[in-house]
Formats: sequence, C-alpha cells, structure tokens
Amino acid sequence: MLGIIGGSSLNRIPDLVNPRRVSVTTPYGEPSAALTAGSLHGTEVVFLARHGDSHTVAPHRINYRANIWALHAQGVRALVAVATVGGIRDDLVPGTLLTPDQIIDYTHSRESTFFDGGLQPLQHIDFTRPLSAAVRRRLMQAGAAAGVAMRDGGVYGATQGPRLESAAEIERMARDGADVVGMTAMPEAALARELDMDYALLCVVVNAAAGRGANADGVAIETIKAVAEAAMLKVNVVLAGMAEQHGR
Ligand code: HPA
Repeated sequence: MLGIIGGSSLNRIPDLVNPRRVSVTTPYGEPSAALTAGSLHGTEVVFLARHGDSHTVAPHRINYRANIWALHAQGVRALVAVATVGGIRDDLVPGTLLTPDQIIDYTHSRESTFFDGGLQPLQHIDFTRPLSAAVRRRLMQAGAAAGVAMRDGGVYGATQGPRLESAAEIERMARDGADVVGMTAMPEAALARELDMDYALLCVVVNAAAGRGANADGVAIETIKAVAEAAMLKVNVVLAGMAEQHGR
C-alpha cells in the first residue's frame, strides 16, 4: 500500500476517489488527524495530514510515532512524505521540487524511536542511506513522465522550529553540506525505517533560507504560502503519476 504524508499547504489529495476517513489509535497515542483512504488513479492510497486537518500541530509537537505507526497499521509499506523547505544552495530557488537522498538531524527533544526499551526492545537500525532509493526513483520517473522538473538528490537538514533559523545557523548548515532546511523529516524518516517502510521525501522549496539570496536581511514569511500553494499543483501531478505506476 502507498502512503502519502502531506505537509504545509497539502492537507488533502484533491484527486482521491471514494475517500474514506479512518480514525486510528496507536500504542503511542493519536496521529495528527484521521487518515484518508481512497483510490488515486487506480491505486489504493492512505493519506495523512502531518500538521492536522487544519494545520494546527507545530513541527516539534507532531506525534511522529503515532503517525508512522498508524500508516503502517493500515498496510502502508511505501511512503512519500511531502515537505516544504527553505533553499540553502543558491540554485534551489522557490518553486523547485526535489527528492533529497540524505538527512542531517538538528532536532532535539522529540520522541524519535520505537526501539527505546519501552513497548519495543532496544534495537539499532542502519541509517546510512536514510531515504529509499526505490521510492526516490519512482518519484523521479513520475516527474519525468508528467513533465514536472525535479532535482534528484540533496541533503535535507532538519531543524527544531517552529521559528526559522538565524543566518549563522544556515551558514553552519551550508558548511555541513545541507542543501535545504525543513522541520519535519526527522524523526519521521527514522521511524519509517524502524518499521521497514520504504520512505522518501518530496520537497518543495518555498523560500530562500535565512540570510541567503533574496532573504539576505530576513525571510519574507508572507510570500511562502502562495509559492507553496502554486507548487502543490505540481506535487499533486507527481503523486498521481506515482500512484499510477504503483498500480501497474
Ligand atoms: N527553514 C525551516 N523550515 C522551513 C523553511 C525554512 O526556511 N521553509 C519551509 N520550511
């Protein structure tokens, strides 16, 4: 089963046929919202709005464990997580779509594992390649087939939020090798890996990161929403193509 997690500006999949709301409780508490199951171009998909149905759950307050557990319990084994990001690298301008291949985690104080010796025994997982090459390839193919330009690869730096970063924090991230910055891929990606799900990110650059390019003196927050909403039209085309392939 294909799962889709929607981020800011994507709290539903408009093309979903026969949508059904599925409320799930998990040993880790409540997910951000009820899941929505339905058919997307002939493939059964399950959708979850990461920040809740009306975008009320802050990145550091998301119950990532409940979200990933709920999707897994519905049979999801391949997962596309849509996330808006700031562009650190100069060529990753607002409106760019990319599927990163690496992650650096700068978050803290989040419940970030199932394997903490509580409900599940302590266990270490391999995270050398944190994002699924197979799902990333399928995203790239869906983009190419639909004529939607997408960048293949890149390093996603996950920050705590909800505030944006200082210019010096972004400078440090650039030195670390981060290409984009967002607030939600961790611990989401690691939890998916713990449950053996194939997880990849579909990122939308919605602003130049703090201190970069047009945002040298401050991030123009008021421009972000319009950029995100316009880009989600392209995201929906890629997701539809991905679902179509998945059904074949
Ligand atoms: N920083 C962190 N997260 C983000 C940004 C940003 O500039 N833009 C969108 N999500």
